[in-house]
Amino acid sequence: MRRSVLLGTGSALPRRALGNEELARMVDTSDEWIVERTGIRNRYVAGDDETTSSLATEACRKAIEAAGIEAETIDLIVLATATPDQTFPATATIVQDALGCNGGIAFDVAAVCSGFLYALAVADSMLRSGMANRALVIGSETFSRILDWEDRSTCVLFGDGAGAIVIEAQEDGAAEPRGILATRLHADGAHNQLLYVDGGPSTTGTVGKLRMKGREVFRHAVVNLSQVLKEVLDEAGVAIEDIDWLVPHQANARILEATAKKLSMPPEKVIMTVGQHANTSAASVPLALDAAIRDGRIGKGDLVMLEAMGGGFTWGASLIRV
Ligand code: UT7
Repeated sequence: MRRSVLLGTGSALPRRALGNEELARMVDTSDEWIVERTGIRNRYVAGDDETTSSLATEACRKAIEAAGIEAETIDLIVLATATPDQTFPATATIVQDALGCNGGIAFDVAAVCSGFLYALAVADSMLRSGMANRALVIGSETFSRILDWEDRSTCVLFGDGAGAIVIEAQEDGAAEPRGILATRLHADGAHNQLLYVDGGPSTTGTVGKLRMKGREVFRHAVVNLSQVLKEVLDEAGVAIEDIDWLVPHQANARILEATAKKLSMPPEKVIMTVGQHANTSAASVPLALDAAIRDGRIGKGDLVMLEAMGGGFTWGASLIRV
């Protein structure tokens, strides 16, 4: 049986950090409100010369280095983003060319904040089917470009960044298999107007700005995430106590805490980076995963659950033995 095994991770953040105090001089908000309601203290904002593809390329270079492989051996790139460099071509093809691994498969996936989970599931399926052997799975966003900087209910919540992982198809004969063990994805389009962008190529001909009914999204997030996590545990035949680390989408510290509590998961097993990066949409799960692998918390053999929920609604979870 072929399985997709994790070889390396990488991440990238724009140069410019934007703290709550500075933001409070731009819109009617306060450090106190943002920290209390979200846990966010800081976010990064892309400069004119920084794009979704440039951040993704930097994250990929680090992931490739951590994996100890040559870029030319990558034959599949799946990039999750809601903020592509251009409507087309796919940002994945720009990254492919920058890395010099031209010739393989490269495309984008749009599932907003759960984009990385969707991209991972697609790449995993393609590796297991034999269509490719070595993949880069990327989440990269420049949400600062689609924020309404006068809307305090949204602009304080998001930031820019990228995370990437290298996965490889390996024959699995081990008693304790490594790699992606189980994944479940969902979407419910009935809620597509709770979190959306008010523009697009085929409607307004503009890029549009992000709009969100935050309180309602919050309510759905806790329910959907705890359900999908249970589905993945059931599919893998694993108990919640066996999970070493939960790497959740970093939208709001309160959502992370509420989901962990609903699952009776100790908070110290939850990787939390939302304070430093804010919500980076599709980049948030691979950014948090890379941070926890690089600081030594997540190590080889650990059982790690990834999860995310976002616009659409879309949501999903994936269980990996690192
Ligand atoms: O990544 C995709 C998934 N997205 C999410 O998961 C986001 C989910 N939602 C959330 O994280 C939270 O709902 C928010 C952080 C967006 C909002 O927190 P909340 O506790 O649900 O606050 P609220 O929307 O109910 O607003 C409470 C009050 C309102 O004032 P009134 O009407 O009670 O007088 C808002 O006008 O807070 C006010 N408010 C602010 N005050 C200061 C909203 N934004 C701000 C702000 N600064 N930035």
